[in-house]
Parts: sequence; structure tokens; C-alpha cells
Amino acid sequence: MKYTESKYANDDAGQSESQKDWSDYYEATKQGPPRPLLVSALKHVTNKNRAIDIGSGALNDTRYLLGQGFDVVSIDKNPTMEQEAVDKQNEKLHTFMTKFEDFNFPENEYDLASAMYSLPFIDPIHFNYVLAKIKSSLKKGGIFCGQFFGVHDEWSTNQKMTFHTKDQLKVMFEDFSIISFEEEEIDKETATGKMKHWHVFHVIARK
Ligand SMILES: C[S@@+](CC[C@H](N)C(=O)[O-])C[C@H]1O[C@@H](n2cnc3c(N)ncnc32)[C@H](O)[C@@H]1O
Repeated sequence: MKYTESKYANDDAGQSESQKDWSDYYEATKQGPPRPLLVSALKHVTNKNRAIDIGSGALNDTRYLLGQGFDVVSIDKNPTMEQEAVDKQNEKLHTFMTKFEDFNFPENEYDLASAMYSLPFIDPIHFNYVLAKIKSSLKKGGIFCGQFFGVHDEWSTNQKMTFHTKDQLKVMFEDFSIISFEEEEIDKETATGKMKHWHVFHVIARK
């Protein structure tokens, strides 16, 4: 296996799902720049019309997408998201405090589905169902971007989170065209300052 330092290596995501309170994470990440993978993905979006931010956290990416002219659906199970939603009055922003597995993803709706460091936190019981719903929510030609954690990730013993091999991911996206697929394996601090071994796949793909 080739271990690379990704161009997305400055990405920094959170904490173990065993820490149920994400407030430290939101505090550390709020007002930060949009995720570089999302910025890259946007170059491939033909119509900047409707986007969904899946696991929107402190809403940095949601704000960026609004600024790019998208109508944005922003979903996260954590109530902190609601408190941070200072620009909730924006009529182009639709926030839903919900678990991914309970959200009623509309079909063929979005030009962009962005899941920045969020999908690995889904319980494996729900993972395939949620990913299928996300994929079907994209219009034909729409763009998916997101991270998946690999089996060498330090948190991979957490049975409430989902980890993948490269081969599994290739199969999961065989009905999409892959635009970018980067594997990153690195020791680096989390957003809240703890050293961690990261094994991350950064994916951009077109439906
Ligand atoms: C690591 S944070 C990433 C936040 C943001 N996308 C970013 O890049 O900074 C993961 C987010 O996903 C949310 N999340 C994790 N599992 C979820 C689930 N099953 N349903 C809804 N939200 C979930 C958490 O509440 C958290 O806000």
C-alpha cells in the first residue's frame, strides 16, 4: 500500500464517537475555512443550485455553499448546530437536526452532496442504507464529495463507527465516475488537539 500525504492533509476532523458532546469540536472548528475537498469538488459542479451538507457541524461549509449561491440543506444530529446557525434567517438555508439514518433524503434533488468527515461516524448497521440514500438524492451528473476512514485508522476498533478498505470504496462508487480518490495515512492532531493516527480516503465522484 502506498501511503501518501494528501493535498487535503490540513484537514482536521473531530473526535471519537464515544465522546458524545461535540461542543469542543465545534468551538475549535467554527469560523474556520471551508474544507479543501469541498472547494475542489465545487470546480466540478455544473449547476450551483441545490446542495446538501451532511454532518454540517459548525456550519463552515454550509456558509461557504450559501456564499457560492447554493440553496443549502444542512443536516446534523447535534443540537449545537442549531445554536451555531446564526444565519438561519437566510431563506436559502434549510437546517434539519436529525440523524442521517432518519432523514428523508429526496430523490434526484441535489447538484452537490458534501459529507466532510461525517460518514465514518455512522453505525455500521446503518451505513449502506444511508450511503444509498445519499447517492439517490443526487441528480444525474451531480457531485458527491466526502471522507471515509480506512481500516488502519486509530479509531477502527470503535464498533459504532464505519471503516473501509480501498477495494470496498471502489465497489461502493462503481456506479459513479471517480473524479478524485486520495488515500491519506498520517499521525496528526485532531481539531481538539489530541494526536491520532489517521487513515482517510478523500473522494470526489460524479453520478
Ligand atoms: C467530525 S464532525 C464534521 C463536521 C463538519 N462537516 C466538519 O468538517 O468540520 C462530524 C459531524 O457529523 C455529525 N454526525 C455524526 N454521526 C451522525 C449521524 N448518524 N447523524 C447525524 N449527524 C451525525 C456530528 O454531530 C458532527 O457534527
